[in-house]
Amino acid sequence: MKVVILASGGDAPGMNACIHYLTKKLTCFKRNQVYVAKYGFKGLIDGNFERVTTKQTRKYKKKAGVFIKSSRCPEFRTQEGIDKAAKNVKENGFDVVFVLGGDGSYRGSIALMKKKVKVVFIPATIDRDLTYETYTIGFYTAVSACCQYIYDVEPTMHAFDRTCVYETMGRENASLPTLVSEIIDADLLITKENYNSINYDEFLKMHKENPVRTVVLQEKFIPIEEIVKKIKEVTGGSVRGCVISYVQRGTDPTKDELSKCKLFAKTAVKAMKKAEYSTAIGIDVNQGKYLKLS
Ligand code: F6P
Repeated sequence: MKVVILASGGDAPGMNACIHYLTKKLTCFKRNQVYVAKYGFKGLIDGNFERVTTKQTRKYKKKAGVFIKSSRCPEFRTQEGIDKAAKNVKENGFDVVFVLGGDGSYRGSIALMKKKVKVVFIPATIDRDLTYETYTIGFYTAVSACCQYIYDVEPTMHAFDRTCVYETMGRENASLPTLVSEIIDADLLITKENYNSINYDEFLKMHKENPVRTVVLQEKFIPIEEIVKKIKEVTGGSVRGCVISYVQRGTDPTKDELSKCKLFAKTAVKAMKKAEYSTAIGIDVNQGKYLKLS
């Protein structure tokens, strides 16, 4: 088999590990050849392919970022771009395309599938924005990076009796700010969805007891400065804003994340071996269960 791996959209911690484990699993069999498409779907369109071995992929496996490069590719949103990409896949003799990414890449995978390209999709995004319920590579590392960032800023907020608003990434999806807010036990979570129903009286009451308060804000629907201004007006206290930003993507994957990357790669290769194409890989880690004591 000749396969090609690509990563598209925002990079997610663990993508490199997943690429390594895919390559390792696939090259166990000499007849398999593993290539990467540089810069995601753009690489398919441009025919920008490179053969990889575990000797290369191993170097990056514990690192954040994505060494095969990613991009957002407007051309791939056009029928012409999709046709070009599918043509290149076929002409270069690729049997399967492994796609790593989030919601946009999922839709891209469907576009390729419609052109009769065999695709296996692996969810890798800090946004956790896929409509099918699943763990996504990078999400928990990004959550952990946000929490660490907040813990590191908190002492200086305490020193000045300040409230701080922390903006997390997450694009259109509130998964990231919501889990961060739960973990750090924030006093207020502001998302696109709850923004119009926030009870600032409740917040003021808390602020009167202790002015050191933590607010977590979902990105991209209101400027953080407006929220800082609003909280200053409501409380009359000292308020600061911090945009957590790219440490959420640039932090090396946690050990747990690395183990999930391996599981995803293993499952994706299994799907390929069973000829289960047009497949989206998933694992469920969020379900609790009861067991009898015995
Ligand atoms: O999709 C991942 C993501 O990090 C989003 O959370 C964020 O809104 C966006 O990418 C930022 O994109 P860029 O890297 O183009 O600034």
